Amino acid sequence: MTSRVEGIGIGFRYGFADALLAADVPELRWLEIHPENYVGRGGRFRYRLDQARERYPLATHGLTLGVGAVMPAEDDYVAPLAAFLADIGTPWHSEHLCFSGTGGVMLHDLLPLPFSPQSIATAACRIGELRDRIERPLAIENVSYYAHPGGPPQMEEVDFLLQVLEAADAKLLLDVNNVWVNSQNHGFDARAFLDRIPAERVVQIHVAGPTVRPDGLIIDTHGEAVRSECYELLEHVLERLGPVPVLLERDQNFPPFAELVSEIRQLDAIYQRAIAVHAARCARNVAEGPARDVERALV
Ligand SMILES: [Fe+2]
Repeated sequence: MTSRVEGIGIGFRYGFADALLAADVPELRWLEIHPENYVGRGGRFRYRLDQARERYPLATHGLTLGVGAVMPAEDDYVAPLAAFLADIGTPWHSEHLCFSGTGGVMLHDLLPLPFSPQSIATAACRIGELRDRIERPLAIENVSYYAHPGGPPQMEEVDFLLQVLEAADAKLLLDVNNVWVNSQNHGFDARAFLDRIPAERVVQIHVAGPTVRPDGLIIDTHGEAVRSECYELLEHVLERLGPVPVLLERDQNFPPFAELVSEIRQLDAIYQRAIAVHAARCARNVAEGPARDVERALV
């Protein structure tokens, strides 16, 4: 059965798993898990997963199959991954638009791709292969990056992302924090970037808190509270997209769980406000549509 993923979720991490499973937070509606933590593993990992499944719908988010890799993913991992995703009933699986290894060596990082036609063609090929093998929708996530590899980019990041989505006919996991981090580090308008994202592609959103270094470079650490700029961008984009599930990513420097609950509640308040605005806009468009048609016919 497919999980019903909607509203606000949080990434399931061992650092706060006990507190999360003991808490009663009505605003928390689902959890995101990394399959790498569970595929081929039993014991306490599986036990924790089963506990989480009893209470929350789950969606899966991979860390190792960067869809821009030159070489296809290894069948030794993809076959058991596909079985795991079917067992979990994830409505989609997501991976990053990046590469994570070269020459057969796994680098355990989310490395940026050159913004080039060749990268678009490679990513479209890898996305199609992986989607066929997992037999469910595949969403790709826009990543943060600190330098463009291989010389000057041949296009803007947003054009690169849109062309990959189009070429692969893929879904998007839109990381709003990554858009903000990149906008600050590379000097572009985050709202203009978000305004170009096609609503029909987006199945999920990520938010997280980055770290600002003393020299001004912003690092996507998932180790601090979500920033006000990210909340503002989230509300802006949700008003247009409507009720897309939103996930809080916190991967290190864990605060008391009550602080994460407070972030979840703040996200839920933004979500509820934004989808109300979205619904009102939709209703207005429906109501005004026939009148506009008559006006056009009379011109
Ligand atoms: Fe993310």
